[in-house]
Amino acid sequence: MKGIILAGGTGSRLFPNTIVVSKQLLPVYDKPLIYYPLSVLMLAEIREILIISTEEALPHYQKLLQDGSRLGLSLHYAVQENPRGLADAFLVGEEFIGSDSVCLALGDNVFYGQNLSLLLQTAKRRVESGGAVVFGCMVKDPREFGVVEFDEQNRVISIEEKPLCPKSNYAVPGLYIYDNQVVEIAKHIQPSPREELEITSVNNEYLKNGKLTVTLMGRGISWLDTGSPKSMYKASSFVKTVQEMQGFYIACIEEIAWRKGFISTEQLRRLGMQLSMTDYGKYILSIAEEG
Ligand code: G1P
Repeated sequence: MKGIILAGGTGSRLFPNTIVVSKQLLPVYDKPLIYYPLSVLMLAEIREILIISTEEALPHYQKLLQDGSRLGLSLHYAVQENPRGLADAFLVGEEFIGSDSVCLALGDNVFYGQNLSLLLQTAKRRVESGGAVVFGCMVKDPREFGVVEFDEQNRVISIEEKPLCPKSNYAVPGLYIYDNQVVEIAKHIQPSPREELEITSVNNEYLKNGKLTVTLMGRGISWLDTGSPKSMYKASSFVKTVQEMQGFYIACIEEIAWRKGFISTEQLRRLGMQLSMTDYGKYILSIAEEG
């Protein structure tokens, strides 16, 4: 399975912070936002990943993450000419996807929780035999998201994009797993009234064909939105609190690469040395010591 991180867009909801800097490069506490979706793909053991961004921002992502080999990954980069919607990722990434299945992670979504790795592995296995898996997360106000509608037997009957009157409190977060059909489906969906190729249209197409699974993320998994300055601040504060309380780091990509066996302890130590002047680097070195 391949992975795509969509890190495009103008970030206009975060202006003036994002006039010069791409949103997914802004810090969430001690690391750039893109580390969080990248860590999710790594937890799913996806190692071939395409990062899509604007022509202006892409060189910055390349400078930050390079070809991924230091993390045992293979990273590729592509430009999205215009912000045509999330489903455009499959058109920009068509060649990269080839005949594989694919997991799309939005560059601005943060997840954290004990069973995340297991949940992702299960979803990945399911899609490897066909269809799509998306997730449902309970939120207080789902109006800014894709929202799942259930019937009385708790079967999914629709997903609505940003409904004024949501039919449930289950929002669909920015993490989607599809079989190879997604490329053809993305080619045939119509732009929405806001002129975007909506991911919700792709999901509804799978639903119509009886091939969509919606897995609910329980209260053990936190999904953090970063759509506004306030939610960026809350995400930073959440990461700081968890890291200080538990001593475990969230989205430490070097640690995940090591725990997943993508890199050796010696490679981990070298990565830690490069950052040894920071708490982040010291944490990596302490993990390497543990061996
Ligand atoms: C997008 C999707 C929406 C999803 C959300 C998750 O919204 O269209 O269905 O719930 O991401 O972050 P957007 O970021 O385009 O407002």
